[in-house]
Amino acid sequence: MKLDIEFVRKQFNQLHDNPEFVFCSNAGGSYVANQVNTLMNHYNSHTRVQPYERYAPSSQAGEAMDRAIEGWAEALNISANELTIGPSTSMNTYVMAQAIGVDLGATDEIIVTNQDHEANSGVWRRKAAEKGAEICEWKVNLESGLLDLEQLDCLVNQNTKWVFFAHCSNIVGTSNPVSEITRRVKQNSNAKVFVDAVAQAPHHICDLKELGVDGYAFSLYKVYGPHQSLLYVNREIVSGLTPQCHYFNTGCDSKLFNPAGPQHAQVASCAGVLDYFDALHQHHFKDTPRAPQRMAPQRMTQLHSLISAYETELTAPILDFLGNDDKVRLIGKNHTRDNDRVPTIAFQPLKQSALAVSTKIQDMGIGCESGHFYAHRLLTDLGIDADDGVVRISLVHYNSTEEVEKILMALDHAINH
Ligand SMILES: Cc1ncc(COP(=O)(O)O)c(C=O)c1O
Repeated sequence: MKLDIEFVRKQFNQLHDNPEFVFCSNAGGSYVANQVNTLMNHYNSHTRVQPYERYAPSSQAGEAMDRAIEGWAEALNISANELTIGPSTSMNTYVMAQAIGVDLGATDEIIVTNQDHEANSGVWRRKAAEKGAEICEWKVNLESGLLDLEQLDCLVNQNTKWVFFAHCSNIVGTSNPVSEITRRVKQNSNAKVFVDAVAQAPHHICDLKELGVDGYAFSLYKVYGPHQSLLYVNREIVSGLTPQCHYFNTGCDSKLFNPAGPQHAQVASCAGVLDYFDALHQHHFKDTPRAPQRMAPQRMTQLHSLISAYETELTAPILDFLGNDDKVRLIGKNHTRDNDRVPTIAFQPLKQSALAVSTKIQDMGIGCESGHFYAHRLLTDLGIDADDGVVRISLVHYNSTEEVEKILMALDHAINH
């Protein structure tokens, strides 16, 4: 069975707004599924009152928010009280850095990478420095941009308190083996593991208990949803963290890591992403008994097999083109055969600036961008001028093969002419 791309594209009004325009800057933020806009409109038109009070529109507002929280908890295979919905992943990691501070002292070590977006780096480094803890950097291979597991083994020891890394880099586009990394960390220490999944989640929503991580975050505005971020904190580690909420809310696990309180309409509309996945699942797996609006991990896995096969098809010709053009340096793997390459493809032009190349591509009606994409440390360590950065083509499963044809023509024109 193949992904029905026509059906997929019908779920995104913005794709039909300007059909000639090719959007391939999805890693910066995706289009929003129609199901999300429906819920947002409904909330704002019918239940825009303080939720969880005792009058009718208010309880409906609370129910709409609970539906999103419970739905996402089920999809991620976690408990609802292990989930915080915050305004952004940067904000969620900032809050978490305050929460873990209590756990850090002068004899402790944390491990961060130079592969991450700054949202999963600077906050931990600053907190560790404030507490006098040692900051150990797990460095990428300077040729490939990939992280090497043996190097991690050398860094982890009994003093390691936390290990922070990305499920997938937003530049290298290769997924790190999260379960295996977590297993190794836990085998050699009592450290906890926190994963930034922002670049992974648009392509694959994971079963978090299966991954075995302690913390995990991703941004729904890159997963066809509203500008919100999902933060998972394993209930078993919560007692070692400092609550970041009002003191009278500390008895409520789901409020511990949200100092601001939730953004009501946005939270309610998070369920729209699951409605979208549900619609996709219904369309493709008609014979599966219907569980209305529930996206349990098994259904998500079925969907992902279709999505990743399709994304691999989209990615291959672009990797092939860039991997064989000596006027560019492709970052990350030049193939998809290991099944760990998401369609986020970054390259450094060797004969022109990234800005010049991305401008030429944009002039051909293609929405792509250049820059450091907040992975400043990675680009600098790879020997790339972070001020100019790399050109990034980032696709998701609503992009079409016709669009890839146009992207290839634009790349050839921008790089070779
Ligand atoms: C890999 C990665 N991590 C973290 C972030 C930060 O997410 P947010 O914009 O929700 O703070 C981004 C945003 O681009 C990202 O790409």
